[in-house]
Formats: sequence, structure tokens, C-alpha cells
Amino acid sequence: MDELADIPPGFRDDIESILIPEARLQARLSELAAEVDRDYAGRDLLLVGVLKGAIFVMADLARRLTLSTAMDFMAVSSYGASTSSSGVVRILKDLDTEIEGRDVLIIEDIVDSGLTLDYLTKNLRSRRPASVEILSLLTKPSRREVDLPVKYVGFEVPDVFVVGYGLDFAERYRSLRDIVTLRPEVYGS
Ligand code: XMP
Ligand code: MG
Repeated sequence: MDELADIPPGFRDDIESILIPEARLQARLSELAAEVDRDYAGRDLLLVGVLKGAIFVMADLARRLTLSTAMDFMAVSSYGASTSSSGVVRILKDLDTEIEGRDVLIIEDIVDSGLTLDYLTKNLRSRRPASVEILSLLTKPSRREVDLPVKYVGFEVPDVFVVGYGLDFAERYRSLRDIVTLRPEVYGS
């Protein structure tokens, strides 16, 4: 059986393997949504998606919640090399919403070193919200450089570069429904 049979033809040659297939991603998002529903019952929850990687997590998680939530987005970029974080974060797009007194849940695609979200949570906390927590679809625990509490984790992944379901390489592969690894030739230029 061809493992890549369901990958759209235009992508297939670039993909090495499927790490987390769509069905597992979606099943896990249902579990996480149930936890968020339970934990935030009766509260005023603002979901803050981190552009662009978190777009599909945001869309699929938010639509599974039975709570009425508000949504906003931030865009950040870390200075320095593109595949590793320097910890110096630039806010490219800030929230449109005031968060003082509100419960904020940051929605992320992946926590790697943790430096980006460490900066972001500190920044948001300075605005005096009632709470700030993190939901990340993926985490690479072996890469962590700061102690960052991630309240909701979808999957732990090994230290390999992954794309799909919002995650990109040079802005490509975000639209894939699975989390996949790329063939080494794709990174060579
Ligand atoms: P830090 O290190 O601050 O960075 O936690 C998190 C950001 O690093 C990017 N990142 C990845 N992007 N595949 C990707 O497409 C990966 O395997 C990967 N690992 C880290 C990503 O932008 C994330 O938001
Ligand atoms: Mg990201």
C-alpha cells in the first residue's frame, strides 16, 4: 500500500513520510476542544491565533468548541535564521482587541525552543488579562530552551522538521491535511 496515496499529486514527490495523519490530528483536536470547553465554562475566552502556522488549528479547534469564544490573531517574527528562533521577537501584527481582565488562550502550531511563546506570553501578561495559557498542536520537548508551561499539547514530535497543517517550508506545504516530513532534496537549493 502506498503511504502517500492520499497526498495531493502536486506535493507527493517532495514528501518523505506522513508523521501524523489527518484522522489522528482531527481526533486529538476533538479531545483538546472538550478539555477547553470544560476548563473555560462560564468564562470569557479569547482565542489568539499566531499567524500563519496556527490558522488550521484555530479553524478546526474553534469550530469544535461549544463555548462562545472571541477570536483574534497576532503575527510575530523572530530575528535571525529562519529555521531556528533567536528569542528576539518582532510583533508584525498586534491584537485588535483589549485583553485586560479576559481569559486568553494562545493557539500555536508548534513549540520548538519556546522562545517565541515565552516572549509572547510575557508581552500579553503585561496587559493584565485574567489569564494567559497556551494550546499548541505540536511540541518538540528535546529542543526547549526555556521553561514554558504549555497547558494543552496535541502531540510531542521528535527533533525533525515537519510541515503541513499550517506549518510551512518557504511558505509552501501549509495546505496539506497531514503533518509530514520532507525529502532531504527539498531543503537543498
Ligand atoms: P520557537 O523556537 O520560538 O519557535 O519555539 C517556534 C517556531 O519555529 C518554527 N518551527 C517550525 N516550523 N516546522 C515548521 O514548519 C518545524 O518543524 C518547526 N519547528 C519550529 C515555527 O515557525 C514555530 O512557530
Ligand atoms: Mg508559528
